[in-house]
Amino acid sequence: MLRVVVLVSGGGTNLQAIIDRVESGLIHDTKIVGVISNNKNAYALERAKAHGIDQVCVSPKDYETREIFNDELLKTVRSFSPDLIVLAGFLVVIPPAMIQEYKNRMINIHPSLIPAFCGKGFYGLKVHEAALKRGVKVVGATVHFVDEGTDTGPIILQKAVEVEQGDTPESLQLRVMQQAEWKILPEAIDLFARGRIQVVDGKAVIHK
Ligand code: GAR
Repeated sequence: MLRVVVLVSGGGTNLQAIIDRVESGLIHDTKIVGVISNNKNAYALERAKAHGIDQVCVSPKDYETREIFNDELLKTVRSFSPDLIVLAGFLVVIPPAMIQEYKNRMINIHPSLIPAFCGKGFYGLKVHEAALKRGVKVVGATVHFVDEGTDTGPIILQKAVEVEQGDTPESLQLRVMQQAEWKILPEAIDLFARGRIQVVDGKAVIHK
């Protein structure tokens, strides 16, 4: 059984997509053993509670220094003994020690087709604002392993979504979630649970 911990900061619609697929058996032999948020008001915590999943808030605001927060976050993650960490809209810089410890065992969903509109400063709605500003016609989402850089790790899955006339950042964000994020994030977890993802020379290879 794959033990998954999901890290969240906000609404948790991606968390919900994972919960739904796990409950309906569409993700192979997997259990969400915990949900961790940096924000105590994150609606994602309510979603976890509603499904009987352990949830905990570890907020940088509650610790004197970033180092103490980083230690606490890593300790909390370890307490769930996860096989896989999923960053589902987690808007906190991941402590380097955690990246090392969970190398090729931590994945992130990013709301663009990496390498477009990613890296420092590109998160949430800002990504969609930038895409509309540039006038691109195709956007999408990416699931990738987390490495030391920002959105630079091996790419696991990507899915394209068309921009429509009259899109706002909000309408585009919703379409990217519906057509891409809520599909490829659960799919990547299923592939991982089935042992079908291998990292070779810094690239993720999927064995279908
Ligand atoms: C999602 O669109 C996710 O891709 C994005 O935050 C949103 C969280 O929504 N993540 C990033 O921008 C990370 N760089 P959710 O809380 O409803 O899942």
